[in-house]
Amino acid sequence: MTPTHPSKSCRRNVTTFVVLFCLTASVIWSQQIVIDDRSNQRLSNFPHNSDITVTDLKLDHNYIHLVDYLDPLPALSTIILDFNDLTTFPDFTNVSSTLLRLYLSNNKLTYIYQDYLEPLVALQVLSLDHNQLYQIPNVLCPSLRQLDLANNNFLCFPDLSRLGRRLTTLDISRNSIITEIPPPKLLALTELKKLVANGLNLEWFPDVRPISRTLEWLELRDNSIHRMSGNIIVELVKLTVLRIDYNNIQSLPNICMKRSSSLVSVSAMNNPIRCDHTARWMKIAEEDGLVSISLKCNYPPKLNGISWTDINMNNLTQPTGATRTSNFKGIDVTSFLSVPRFVRKETTVRNLLQCSVRCLEMPTCVMYNYISRTNRCRLAYPYDGDFIDFYNEPIWHVIF
Ligand SMILES: *[C@@H]1O[C@H](CO)[C@@H](O)[C@H](O)[C@H]1NC(C)=O
Ligand SMILES: *[C@@H]1O[C@H](CO)[C@@H](O)[C@H](O)[C@H]1NC(C)=O
Repeated sequence: MTPTHPSKSCRRNVTTFVVLFCLTASVIWSQQIVIDDRSNQRLSNFPHNSDITVTDLKLDHNYIHLVDYLDPLPALSTIILDFNDLTTFPDFTNVSSTLLRLYLSNNKLTYIYQDYLEPLVALQVLSLDHNQLYQIPNVLCPSLRQLDLANNNFLCFPDLSRLGRRLTTLDISRNSIITEIPPPKLLALTELKKLVANGLNLEWFPDVRPISRTLEWLELRDNSIHRMSGNIIVELVKLTVLRIDYNNIQSLPNICMKRSSSLVSVSAMNNPIRCDHTARWMKIAEEDGLVSISLKCNYPPKLNGISWTDINMNNLTQPTGATRTSNFKGIDVTSFLSVPRFVRKETTVRNLLQCSVRCLEMPTCVMYNYISRTNRCRLAYPYDGDFIDFYNEPIWHVIF
């Protein structure tokens, strides 16, 4: 039996310690963020960097017009080149397996080579806003989650059937030549949660139903939309935020807020909104805490310019004019006790809205009509087709 040599044992411990230390250190090291910050330094050339620990290259606000080469940097995950003078999309294939975020906004890019975009298999965030792009190669970018194409020169909504497969956020704003968002182009965007399409030239509320199961946030500010489609809105089962400010919309569609949508916030400032009896459902929905709405009234004249928050139920009156009590098959709902629980009679305000009934739990909406001659309400129009422009039907009180 030879006893273990003390110094040998010791050396082995030291060796183990050193190995362990190096391993631990390298793990800690690899998690550390190492930023090479050279923003605002008036650089006109891409600075070469061979520090293999660098994770973030921060080069925004310079005058860089070309990236001639980038060494393989095994830890590099973020490149920020916003506000430079790049005219061509750089070749970052040397870091393609680690690059997660690439910021190229506010440059002068006109074109992106497919061969430079396609290798970026790890890329999750790509910011290309404020350039001069009119197209983007539709390559498979298997990790891409956020794509910003705002403020470019796209002539039409891009084909993202491959590029957009994993996208959760897309900003296509202010490509002012785009006049429509064709539903087939949304089909492949099966994970899209946020669509921002401000400042396009949309005249119609886009049919975003292909992404109705995922869409949570929809911005359509500053377009020329003149009519909303309730049919589309009710199908957006996850939509929580809708921004339609600066359009030409007169009324928001009556939708069963609770059941058919998860909408919590609607912003519709700078639209010619009619604040009459057809808007009462919005007040009810708001008072019930279902949704918060911001807008200013445009009509009638006495409410012009008044903020929605200063409007109460009494202000939302039916315009005087023709009444219409025929042309529909009706059922008598005078006794509200007999109707299902989702129907609720509202407080009576003169003759006008005695039959205001609610359908919080209804998948489709119901509309009742008050008949003054008999002092009764009748079911006017259980509809499942397109929503009517209710403003033209002043006697029909609409239930959301
Ligand atoms: C990739 O890295 C190699 C080695 O540093 C370099 O010679 C080459 O120019 C780089 N390529 C690009 C496109 O950056
Ligand atoms: C709104 O209704 C209230 C009464 O409920 C009234 O005091 C107010 O003047 C009305 N506002 C307008 C602009 O008519």
